[in-house]
Amino acid sequence: MGMVGGGQDAFIGAVHRMAAGLDGSMQMVAGALSSTPEKAIASGKALGLPEARCYGTWMEMLEGENARPEDERIEAVVIVTPNHVHFPVAKAALEAGFHVVCDKPMTCTNEEAAELVDLQQSTGRVFAVTYNYTGYPLVRQAREMVRSGAIGPVRKVMVEYLQGWLATPLEQSGQKQADWRTDPARAGAGGAMGDIGSHAENLASFITGLQVAAFAGESVTHVSGRALDDDTSVLLRFDGGATGVLTASQICPGSRNGLRIRVWGETGGIDWQQESPNQLLHTSLDGPDQIHRTADADLAVAAAEATRLPGGHPEAFIEAFANIYRGAAAAMHAGRDDGETFGYPDVQDGARGVRFINAVVQSSGQGWTELSQ
Ligand SMILES: NC(=O)c1ccc[n+]([C@@H]2O[C@H](COP(=O)([O-])OP(=O)(O)OC[C@H]3O[C@@H](n4cnc5c(N)ncnc54)[C@H](O)[C@@H]3O)[C@@H](O)[C@H]2O)c1
Repeated sequence: MGMVGGGQDAFIGAVHRMAAGLDGSMQMVAGALSSTPEKAIASGKALGLPEARCYGTWMEMLEGENARPEDERIEAVVIVTPNHVHFPVAKAALEAGFHVVCDKPMTCTNEEAAELVDLQQSTGRVFAVTYNYTGYPLVRQAREMVRSGAIGPVRKVMVEYLQGWLATPLEQSGQKQADWRTDPARAGAGGAMGDIGSHAENLASFITGLQVAAFAGESVTHVSGRALDDDTSVLLRFDGGATGVLTASQICPGSRNGLRIRVWGETGGIDWQQESPNQLLHTSLDGPDQIHRTADADLAVAAAEATRLPGGHPEAFIEAFANIYRGAAAAMHAGRDDGETFGYPDVQDGARGVRFINAVVQSSGQGWTELSQ
């Protein structure tokens, strides 16, 4: 793979490299790793890339790789830049014949997302979006249980993603990750909603198989001077009548990466928390609570296949990410873009996430009723 972004001082690119390598699924052999050519090339050299494949820009990478003999060029482009760069790179990569692994949110605008959906279809290339929380074994267990009726028809979904790292105007200190995430030109229309609300929406539909049909929400900014939301709450109505609540907030001091999803059906419920990812609580109307853990003998096949270690050995973020890479790489080898079969979120999931973010932010605050005093 050739990586765009993920250079010195970057966050998620290194996780992608570790995840891709965990099962030997993919390996970075080329990169345009940073926003300036000097830093991009220095970052590639520091990671041991051959000098000829340390590119100054992503355009040079696509051109340089396409000029190599077919069996010596990259097969996939991995995009781990700030959000506004995802679209031009993904579009050019598909047009140049490469598979794409793109981080979320897939694009900034609905139009860009629709264009990538069309391009994926016309090129037939694999397109994976790294909604990495779908890679956890017990999230896959929850999906199998909910979809096979273990809690009965779904009635209620509560999904929350709470962080506290933007409780202060951190971006004003120049902190790199806060800086672009609070800038509409680089993050898109959503702040907390785009950054982490997108994971929450994806996780809810991944586990339940239900899509959001309607919603009412509010995106607000608590930290003064900030241009994007740092706190969003949404009431959800799903296809088929289930209801739900989604909240994404980055101004909750003490919350680190508090992603939690609870789903209740007519006869029971499930509860999964990202900070204790190796267990899943299953409640029911009549019986005692049950806890499922990684490597339990009775895990669903999809969950067992996503587990690498014997019971009691914690697996987490990087392993879950690696499960997405394993699925995407299998699809690339099969020459077939099929996230459902191979186990990765696809371009349609990415586009749905973008539409949800933009719709929530654009309709923010509509439908309030003043309470008489
Ligand atoms: N799936 C997840 O759990 C997860 C977690 C964190 C971030 N992300 C997503 O990953 C992306 C990157 O986030 P991050 O926190 O790593 O950001 P970051 O600021 O730490 O890193 C971004 C990198 O992209 C580089 N870059 C910027 N413009 C570029 C260009 N034109 N060409 C090449 N490189 C360029 C920067 O120099 C930097 O190396 C974002 O879209 C973010 O939403 C996903």
